[in-house]
Amino acid sequence: MTHNWKQLEKEFIEKIESAKDLNSIENIRIELLGKKGQINSLMAQMRTVAKEKKKEYGMAVNSLKQLTESLIAEKTAGLKEAEILQQIQEDKIDITLPANRGKYGTLHPLTVVQQEIEDIFIGMGYAVVEGPEVELDLYNFERANIPADHPSRDMQDTFYVDVNRLLRTQTTAIQMRVLEEEHDILPIKVVCPGKVYRKDDDDATHSHQFVQVEGLVVGENITVGDLKGSLELLARSMFGSAREIRLRQSYFPFTEPSIEIDVTCHICGGVGCPTCKNTGWIEILGAGMVHPRVLDMAGIDSKKYTGFAFGVGIERVAMLKYGVDDIRHFYTNNIKFLDTFKRFE
Ligand code: DAH
Repeated sequence: MTHNWKQLEKEFIEKIESAKDLNSIENIRIELLGKKGQINSLMAQMRTVAKEKKKEYGMAVNSLKQLTESLIAEKTAGLKEAEILQQIQEDKIDITLPANRGKYGTLHPLTVVQQEIEDIFIGMGYAVVEGPEVELDLYNFERANIPADHPSRDMQDTFYVDVNRLLRTQTTAIQMRVLEEEHDILPIKVVCPGKVYRKDDDDATHSHQFVQVEGLVVGENITVGDLKGSLELLARSMFGSAREIRLRQSYFPFTEPSIEIDVTCHICGGVGCPTCKNTGWIEILGAGMVHPRVLDMAGIDSKKYTGFAFGVGIERVAMLKYGVDDIRHFYTNNIKFLDTFKRFE
């Protein structure tokens, strides 16, 4: 049996060269070097070769086998590398493309201001307490020293649910609940945030729903000085360290004496401008020493204990702080308006 070895070698080389990918080189390997492959069948034909030619035949097959093996190994390595390069090419990340940023929201400005106020008082050891929005007349008015025929009920036009229940008009209602619940575990130091409701016609400065934070401290020897010091800290934290506050006499049924707190205008620094109506001062909250009758009604001995309280409207603070000119902006959910608060983050 004789073969044209040169011709076979040429055919094998061409076949191996023609492989386009790892899959086809593997098929070629099986075809040439596999158990039933061409090399093995050439080996098998050794039987039919004349004795004196066997050695020459064997050497020829072996050298063809070695050549085939090394060519296939080389081709396979080359194809593998090409495949990896192609993958890298396809997976390439263009780091110069602008990032695809998702839209993200921001906390509502009223939430931000509320949390800021809470944090200031938490830092001074106050606890945060909430209460029901549908409230009893008892806590919203009676316990706050505002009986049924009291003229100051007219100041707060009320949404009644029935004769005894209403949408609370002031977080002072939470203050009355805290006084009752904690009358025997003094001292009390709380801030009470929450929504309140009044039958107001909405305009630039009025909203039928708004947010207040109530503050209450009761214990022995609590004085107006303590009230002033705490509110000074609040005003400075909210509006800047250069702010002064002043106390003005006022009237609330649940405090005696009652005061209103003004802070130096943050726009003009106290010189006078349109924002502060040229007075240099802006009113930010109501406060006072808790009325002895309010303490007594809650079961606290007003001869032994005193306290101060304050109520601050969050919208008013937010309007002053961020220069917002209409309270309704806070409630219309205009994304463009809300987005402007991202710059304050
Ligand atoms: N409740 C009052 C209001 O809604 C605000 C207020 C004033 C609360 C004086 C107080 C206070 O606790 O002492 O107008």
